Amino acid sequence: MKHLISMADLTHDEINELLDMAEDLKEKRLRGKVTDLLKNKSLGMIFEKSSTRTRVSFEVAMCDLGGHALYLNARDMQLGRGETVGDTSEVLSRYLYGIIARVYSHETVKQLAEHSSIPVINALSDKEHPCQILADLLTIREYKSKIAGLKYAWVGDGNNVCNSAIIGGALMEMEVAVACPPGYEPDEDIVELARELGGNITITNDPNEAAKDADILYADVWVSMGDEDEREKRLKDLAPYQINNELVEQAKPDVIVMHCLPAHRGEEISAEVMDGPHSVVFDQAENRLHAQKALLMKMMA
Ligand code: CP
Ligand code: NVA
Repeated sequence: MKHLISMADLTHDEINELLDMAEDLKEKRLRGKVTDLLKNKSLGMIFEKSSTRTRVSFEVAMCDLGGHALYLNARDMQLGRGETVGDTSEVLSRYLYGIIARVYSHETVKQLAEHSSIPVINALSDKEHPCQILADLLTIREYKSKIAGLKYAWVGDGNNVCNSAIIGGALMEMEVAVACPPGYEPDEDIVELARELGGNITITNDPNEAAKDADILYADVWVSMGDEDEREKRLKDLAPYQINNELVEQAKPDVIVMHCLPAHRGEEISAEVMDGPHSVVFDQAENRLHAQKALLMKMMA
C-alpha cells in the first residue's frame, strides 16, 4: 500500500492487520510502553479545513512513535498563492517521509499522491474520510468482538464519511443500510464499487427501515465543512433523520451509537442519545490515535 486516498485502497486483510496492530499499540500505550519506530522521520500535515481530532491524533501519534509532525496550514503555504499541488508534493517529498492532507476537493489529495514519492494519506476530502472509518472499525470490533455480519445503519447525509463507511463495510462484510433524504444519497460510484466488492448495501429514505435491528447506528453533521451556504435547507431536509431515543428503539437492544464528531446535539443526534448508554463516540475519537499509529507504522516505517 503506497497511499491511502480511498478506503478502497485497503484490502480486507490489510484492515485486519491494521486493527491488530492498533489494538496492540493501544494496550502498549496504556502500559506506558513506547516504540521509536519512526525516529527521525517527519510527517507533513496539510490542512485546508478545521480539525481537532485528526490534527491532534496524528501529531500525538508521530510523537509517540519517536517522529515529528509539521502542521501546514494550506493558507500559509505558497499553495495559497498559486503554487501548484503537484510542485508542492514534489518538494515535500524531498523533506518528509509522509504527508496527510485535509482538503476541500478530493482531486487535490489525488494530485498530491500522483506527484509524491512518499505515502500520502487522505485526512478528509469532500469525497472520503478513510482514517475515520479505520478507527470506527476498531471501535466496532472492541464492542462487538466481530465485524462481519453486523448491521451498520447510517442515518442522515450521505457524505464523505458515509462514502468511506460504505466501502469499509463492504470490505469487512457488514450489512450497510443508509437512510437519507432524496438528494442526499452517497456517491453512486462509491455504492457501485462497494457492491462490486461484494457489499450488501441498501439505500432508503426511511430512517426506521435502516435502523431496524441495527447493531450500529451512525450519525454525522448535517452541514459538513464546505456546505455552510446550504445550512438552512439542510437542517430542514435532514430534520426527520435525527438519531434520538425513538430511533434507537428500532435497533437491537445492545446497539452502539457512533458519531465521528464534532456533534451538534439537537440536530443530527439528540443530547440523550449522544450522552446516553449506547454512545461510544469518545472511544471512536480515542481510537483515531491508535488506528493512525498503526497506519503510520505500516506506511512510513
Ligand atoms: N472526526 C474528525 O475528523 O474530527 P476533526 O474534524 O476534529 O479532525
Ligand atoms: N462530514 C464532516 C465530517 C467532519 C469530521 C465534514 O466533512 O465536515
